Amino acid sequence: MIVEPAPAKLNLALHVRARREDGYHELETLFVFVRDGDTVRLTPAIHDGFAIIGPFAAGLSGEGDNLVTRARDAFRGRFGASEPLSIVLDKHLPVASGIGGGSADAAATLRGMAKLAGIAPDDPALMAIAAALGSDVPACLAGRTMIGRGRGEQLTPIEVPSLPVLLVNPGVGVSTAAVFAGWDRIDRGALADGDALAIAMAGRNDLEPPARVLAPAVDTVLEMLAQADGVRLARMSGSGATCFALFDRAEDCAAAATAIRAARPDWWCLETALA
Ligand code: C5P
Repeated sequence: MIVEPAPAKLNLALHVRARREDGYHELETLFVFVRDGDTVRLTPAIHDGFAIIGPFAAGLSGEGDNLVTRARDAFRGRFGASEPLSIVLDKHLPVASGIGGGSADAAATLRGMAKLAGIAPDDPALMAIAAALGSDVPACLAGRTMIGRGRGEQLTPIEVPSLPVLLVNPGVGVSTAAVFAGWDRIDRGALADGDALAIAMAGRNDLEPPARVLAPAVDTVLEMLAQADGVRLARMSGSGATCFALFDRAEDCAAAATAIRAARPDWWCLETALA
């Protein structure tokens, strides 16, 4: 059996530069990963099977359009039929929330199947499958801090310190396509030069304004995170609605988590660290 972690992805900065002819957007983003997330378990079996368990299992359908089964089928389409697999997705990340849950699950499935088949995780054919599954899947396949360009699939590695981070989602799912469609088409410029934290601090998330229109709770989340003691940076991730706060000290991160859980027990809150 293979157990593949599918950690949450954050965009510490996300600069949307242009709308493309194909409907996607040119962007520059700083992808980072945290220590926690979903897991994908793959077990050779007599028949194919797919099940979703865990706290966010109910938000997903176990058939057809799940990114895990699409990744499995795409892998087989490229590398040939593998033995039947029982796949269990343990879903801990909220769905449609800007932290790459579905993309991470697809990437973990590809990594796990590559391990079973003896294929290198950085095989260009695997990367091509990842890019076809979604703009964030190549970064999730790499699973480490990267600058992403193009629609997010052109990757350059960069280092980031392992800072404590708090993730907060107000329980509203937003459609990535709808948030991108609400971008005002004003190019506010490239990522800054420098190390990852300098890029993050000088950066922005251009999808925050359109996401706030669709999910006004993002404003409340960001206000609460920005007011926390010791917070270094509070920002929305991806197309939202999950926001994050970076801290220098784990104690400050824990205190902020405790305060937010007490004030908003209905929100999802994850205290973790950059991987
Ligand atoms: O690539 P993915 O399927 O994850 O993208 C979902 C939607 O988000 C796309 O259909 C598109 O509307 C939007 N998107 C975009 N530009 C990107 C990435 C995603 O417009 N760079």
